[in-house]
Amino acid sequence: MGRVQDKVVIVTGASRGLGWADAKMLSREGARVVATDVLDFDASSSKEFDVDCRHLDVSKEQAWADLVAAVLDDYGRLDGLVNNAGVLHVADPVNFDLAEWRHMCAVNIEGVMLGCKYALPAMIGSGGGSIVNMSSIAARSGLYFYSGYCASKAAVAAYTRAVAVYCAQNKLGIRCNSVHPGGIDTPINLNIAAELGDRMDQMRLPQNSPISPGAPQMRMGEPDDIAYAVLYLISDESKYMSGEELYLDNTASITAAVVE
Ligand SMILES: NC(=O)c1ccc[n+]([C@@H]2O[C@H](COP(=O)([O-])OP(=O)(O)OC[C@H]3O[C@@H](n4cnc5c(N)ncnc54)[C@H](O)[C@@H]3O)[C@@H](O)[C@H]2O)c1
Repeated sequence: MGRVQDKVVIVTGASRGLGWADAKMLSREGARVVATDVLDFDASSSKEFDVDCRHLDVSKEQAWADLVAAVLDDYGRLDGLVNNAGVLHVADPVNFDLAEWRHMCAVNIEGVMLGCKYALPAMIGSGGGSIVNMSSIAARSGLYFYSGYCASKAAVAAYTRAVAVYCAQNKLGIRCNSVHPGGIDTPINLNIAAELGDRMDQMRLPQNSPISPGAPQMRMGEPDDIAYAVLYLISDESKYMSGEELYLDNTASITAAVVE
């Protein structure tokens, strides 16, 4: 018997990185996982791990309506949602490009809002459920070279609290929590490195900035460090936990120094 045996769980942004680690972990522990992404999935690994892979752009409302309806048709219920899809653009507050800001808000905030909007009625019809929203240590730090990302991830945490209280006060049997990883070794960091490389000369960086050339680098976590937390939050083991921010960052968000 797995820790999430027979639960039907949607994971977004799941073709790689943290989302794929979550999907595999949940599937190993008995869940029936619907993994979604705008990117194509690697066909052989999705078969190997018994994960149902589907296309979803989280920023598109009709796509969410169609996906949740299809999951209810195919599985008859929905017990979990991991709103994991996310994007990061690098810029300080003076140089932020409005189109990139809107892209981050569309995926990171509106994607989470739409996921909750369509999952909640499906979970109510299933007798309860658990929603996990992927935030970041950026939600509470002043990493100004990630200024828009900080804003989007703080919005995820605030929205999570509102959804959690809505569910608790209406006795819906649905929980909602946010997860806040530090630096985890996934492809998103390649995108960051590429954008930083192009934009480094725009930034007013103090000498001890963690992104200055030659600065010590924080010790990265592994995707499963986050997937274990997601597993706990989707499982009934966390049945008394809702509206919380779960930080997994090896102290990075609470110290001024870089933890190597
Ligand atoms: N890796 C880290 O260091 C780190 C730290 C803190 C928070 N996070 C957050 O964790 C989540 C996963 O990030 P990751 O590190 O695995 O990055 P990643 O870039 O490897 O994966 C992100 C996934 O989201 C998908 N995606 C992007 N736009 C989408 C859209 N419109 N609709 C559906 N899917 C879309 C991408 O295709 C990709 O598969 C993100 O929300 C990210 O902000 C990551």
